[in-house]
Amino acid sequence: MVPQEKVDLILESIRLSASSAGFQPYQVLVIQNKELLEKIKPIAFNQPQITDASHLLVFAAWERVTPERVDAMIKNIARVRNVPEESLAGIRGYGDQFMAQTAEQNFQWAARQAYIALGTALIAAASLEVDSTPMEGFDSASLDQLLGLQERGLKSVLILPLGYRDSQKDWLLPQAKVRMPKEDLFIEDEVLLN
Ligand SMILES: Cc1cc2nc3c(=O)[nH]c(=O)nc-3n(C[C@H](O)[C@H](O)[C@H](O)COP(=O)(O)O)c2cc1C
Repeated sequence: MVPQEKVDLILESIRLSASSAGFQPYQVLVIQNKELLEKIKPIAFNQPQITDASHLLVFAAWERVTPERVDAMIKNIARVRNVPEESLAGIRGYGDQFMAQTAEQNFQWAARQAYIALGTALIAAASLEVDSTPMEGFDSASLDQLLGLQERGLKSVLILPLGYRDSQKDWLLPQAKVRMPKEDLFIEDEVLLN
């Protein structure tokens, strides 16, 4: 069981995560209920992390940018910075630009922002010595239905179980981490300029 203080710090890292124009166009569901986790497991192709985890975070992106969402964001900035809402016309302009796009464009953009929050959460979890697995391996439509996400204007894009590794049973643990060699990953400008 991951202690609540650590879960709270991971959630805070998500809350503080960077996002395009500061919109944070997603919500994150925090699931601990064992029965609910049992129902999610088959939706995630029976991957064991779902029910082994102590908490499951579901990153759900906005289906689309709406006037209500833009208004809520502007009100929040005005409150936190103690400035009049009228002074935030630039941000409202961003909102208008997003609302002129298709729902699919909005969703794809929102999902990318959710991935940034996921990356932030991964690092926060690792720094707190909490184990986690970022997961795309689930049926998003079924999860949305189970959790009533459509009613909230959301679509699930990622799930992140949090827990502690089983050192005895984890077959990956003794294996070396495999990553691309840096020569293959990075392209220095001297190569481009030659
Ligand atoms: C976007 C994304 C989706 C992933 N989906 C799954 C998944 O559905 N199931 C799973 O077991 N691991 C999943 N992984 C975990 C990767 O397989 C894992 O991060 C990678 O193998 C690196 O693991 P390592 O740090 O232990 O080497 C996913 C990772 C990312 C970033």
